[in-house]
Amino acid sequence: MASELTFIMVKPDGVQRGLTGEIISRFERRGFKLVNLKMVHASKEHIEKHYEDLAGKPFYPGLVKYMSSGPVVAMCWAGKDVVKQGRILLGATNPLASSPGTIRGDYAIDVGRNICHGSDAVESAKKELELWFGQEAAGIQYERAIDQWV
Ligand code: PPS
Repeated sequence: MASELTFIMVKPDGVQRGLTGEIISRFERRGFKLVNLKMVHASKEHIEKHYEDLAGKPFYPGLVKYMSSGPVVAMCWAGKDVVKQGRILLGATNPLASSPGTIRGDYAIDVGRNICHGSDAVESAKKELELWFGQEAAGIQYERAIDQWV
């Protein structure tokens, strides 16, 4: 089965609200495979790197402050079309535009506290996985995880 990897992160508000298990559960129930996970209180510099494409946006300073304000749960998920389908499970970026039944549509109302992040393309997933998990993200253990998919 053709498969791919994505980077999904529970943001500080999602961790503080105890939504990590719910988010993991939704991905598992859909049929995706959890390949790697870690809780980390990221530095301002790490978050700036993660969101470097948004550096010119007016909300960027607030976004960096929020994302470095507490621990996040960084995850690598594998499965068929998981980048696109992961974004569908999360819901629209602005929770007020998210459909009920999606994670943001069920649990959030503020774009500045939208619980979770998901890579928007296969290439950005690769970049983000390498930033959060290191070179191993593109390495053999991930390939094995995909190979073992049933
Ligand atoms: S843009 O302007 O279209 O590029 O931005 P967008 O794709 O909607 O969002 C990119 C990420 O920025 C976050 N975001 C915000 N954070 C805090 N405050 C405000 N006002 C805000 N607007 C957008 C948004 O949640 C996206 O983060 P990720 O982690 O990718 O979901």
